[in-house]
Amino acid sequence: MYINNTLLGGRAGVFFPIIMDPFTASTPRETVERVSALLGCSPTSAEVAAYLDKHDKLQHLREKFLVPKIADLPTSDLSLVDGTKECIYFVGNSLGLQPKMARQYLDEELEKWAKMANHGHTKGTRPWAWAENNIEDLMAKIVGAKTEEVALMNGLTVNLHLLMLSFYKPTAARHKILLEYKAFPSDHYAVVSQIQLRGFDPQQSMLLLSPRPGEDALRTEDILEVIEKEGDSIAVVMFSGVQYYTGQLFNMAAITKAGQRKGCYVGFDCAHAVGNVELELHNWGVDFACWCTYKYLNSGAGGLAGAFIHEKHKHTIKPALLGWWGHDLKTRFQMNNVLELQPGVSGFRLSNQPILLVCPLQASLEVFNMTTMQLLRRKSLLLTGYLDYLVQHYYTKDPTQPHKPYVHIITPSDPQQRGCQLSFSFSVPFQKVFQELEKRGVACDMREPSVLRIAPVPLYNSFTDVHRFIETLAAALAACSSQ
Ligand SMILES: *Cc1c(COP(=O)(O)O)cnc(C)c1O
Ligand SMILES: *[C@@H]1O[C@H](CO)[C@@H](O)[C@H](O)[C@H]1NC(C)=O
Repeated sequence: MYINNTLLGGRAGVFFPIIMDPFTASTPRETVERVSALLGCSPTSAEVAAYLDKHDKLQHLREKFLVPKIADLPTSDLSLVDGTKECIYFVGNSLGLQPKMARQYLDEELEKWAKMANHGHTKGTRPWAWAENNIEDLMAKIVGAKTEEVALMNGLTVNLHLLMLSFYKPTAARHKILLEYKAFPSDHYAVVSQIQLRGFDPQQSMLLLSPRPGEDALRTEDILEVIEKEGDSIAVVMFSGVQYYTGQLFNMAAITKAGQRKGCYVGFDCAHAVGNVELELHNWGVDFACWCTYKYLNSGAGGLAGAFIHEKHKHTIKPALLGWWGHDLKTRFQMNNVLELQPGVSGFRLSNQPILLVCPLQASLEVFNMTTMQLLRRKSLLLTGYLDYLVQHYYTKDPTQPHKPYVHIITPSDPQQRGCQLSFSFSVPFQKVFQELEKRGVACDMREPSVLRIAPVPLYNSFTDVHRFIETLAAALAACSSQ
């Protein structure tokens, strides 16, 4: 029988976990149903989640992070939930959890500051003057870039501006920037101001792309068609890698190719993509990219951000603004005011970087270095697929039961078009659902106008988290309906 052969290694009754790897089945539905058949329980049983956790080879990475206890979250209602349990942390898309090593690294640098003060710039395990350079190889691996193509510096919006100053050179014929209609506000404002800075009119020069009426996500074919039709007047195509609101993962390779074929520069804001999905910025030939590190990269609020410029531009694209950190390290401190500009993105560095931001980012990148984005993504497909499966199981909109609350996922159902986040909308007020979830120890977030964003993060979330979430969601919806 199929199940015996596949799940039990051909010997009925004997269990070989090595042979049964649930992470390689073709779809999450198939996996869940196979596991439930093996265990002789319902696919919705918590036993399925426990089994998947037991076979999750990345499970130990959760131990590298501090998971808040429910009682410590200011929004929990301890009359409804056991406060001693760990919360269900599904908001790593907004602020990643604290890596346990962050405190130690920070302590080391505070200690160094106390003991040797200015000598810390060049001494110790983490000399401040080039501390960020020492973790750029780990960063580069995560975005699929060469180390020289990556710089850790500033904040995300600052980096976006610095890159746009060099890549957006509008002319009368080619002055437009193509972006999503509902790009993240900071990106939208950055683009508006870049266009104004060049003396153009955002009304004329911003090309905003909306989904088709009645649809939540953009279709790749529509994006490519606009590029094909309007490309001659587009200077820069600036998309997010993963859309913060819908969770849609864009086909960055196809967008890059289409844009460049029409002579546009193509850049991505990878804030929601980095550490979430596999990126190959170098191989895709992306011109430039930027990202923050406090979301899936767990560097702490306001952490050091990243920037990428493809090596093909290393001698042609120059920074518009200069600072001493763009000067070659070897002669930087000769202070002779003869600039030896570093090639590529390194020349875009302006200031020395805050060591106190390097420490937590280092702690997190070292955890990423214990696995690969490929393995994280493989787990992610199953983890988010499992959540999707359970939501479909319980909440498919049933026209014969118009009063039963339903949950609608606006994120694309195709796993190749999404990362770990699912964005939920509800038939009951979403703010209310959010409150009821928070009371019960779920950390997620809501975004106007109408969604809750739920992000099971493969680095530290478990299948049991997903299962607990589904039970909690039922309780939250029941509380909403009974009021
Ligand atoms: C999180 C996020 C930002 C935030 O910008 P900061 O400069 O880090 O404050 C900007 N853009 C996108 C797409 C984001 O997801
Ligand atoms: C990253 O991982 C590689 C291989 O697993 C290892 O050799 C290297 O020392 C690690 N680097 C850091 C900084 O942890």
